[in-house]
Amino acid sequence: MTERQVKSKQRVADHGEVFTAQREVNAMLDLVKQETERIDSRFLEPACGDGNFLAEILRRKLEAVEARYKKSAADYEKYAVMAATSIYGVDILQDNVEECRRRLFAIWDEAYAAHCKGECRDEVRDAVRYILERNILCGNALTLKKVNAAGEDTAEPIIFSEWVFTGKSSVRRSDYRLDVLMNENPDESNYQGQLSLFADEPSGADNWMIDPDDPNKSIPKPVKVFAPVYYWVVQYSE
Ligand SMILES: C[S@@+](CC[C@H](N)C(=O)[O-])C[C@H]1O[C@@H](n2cnc3c(N)ncnc32)[C@H](O)[C@@H]1O
Repeated sequence: MTERQVKSKQRVADHGEVFTAQREVNAMLDLVKQETERIDSRFLEPACGDGNFLAEILRRKLEAVEARYKKSAADYEKYAVMAATSIYGVDILQDNVEECRRRLFAIWDEAYAAHCKGECRDEVRDAVRYILERNILCGNALTLKKVNAAGEDTAEPIIFSEWVFTGKSSVRRSDYRLDVLMNENPDESNYQGQLSLFADEPSGADNWMIDPDDPNKSIPKPVKVFAPVYYWVVQYSE
């Protein structure tokens, strides 16, 4: 085991913190290779550490953006932002969360600068920093609550944002409680206990609503829906 995989014996004892080596990360992601190369496929890692898996997923998605949209800086920018919106993580340790966000942003920004060069915009960088702040959260993946600086559960549920690109350059943010997204439907006999991130997974709970597009389906009810805005100003819509 390399030093990089363990920060301290105490952290291993307290939180089971042993980081996965790059070779294993790649081998595991190759099991779902097509999804890792799909720009808008959503990934949530519930014990993301400093982001070994999420960093590689972002790299693969950005390579797909490069391959598909290399001829247009505007398209590259939009789809690179979309790639960032699709990556989610939770960790119980604040320093891991901050390192994970920093690392993902560095990967994103390096690719953006290399592709868009003089056409790069600082407000787009700010938007991606903001999206990563919303998507990589400090919380307890077992109780689905946010944690305080001491790593203890708070009363607040973990809330994630769904980012949906609408029209040419707009994005609509909707916030959902993670415990609702993971809620089991007692009426669904074939329910497998799998998280279906932002997908329709019916349940009898009050936090669900009838799908406006299909009255036979229930979907999670968002705690807040924001008006669509250009993707480079999402950070101002609080
Ligand atoms: C074995 S490490 C894996 C880290 C990363 N996924 C990787 O493969 O490199 C487990 C991680 O889970 C975090 N962790 C432990 N208990 C947790 C919990 N209840 N909720 C969220 N994260 C937790 C630890 O802080 C640590 O970063």
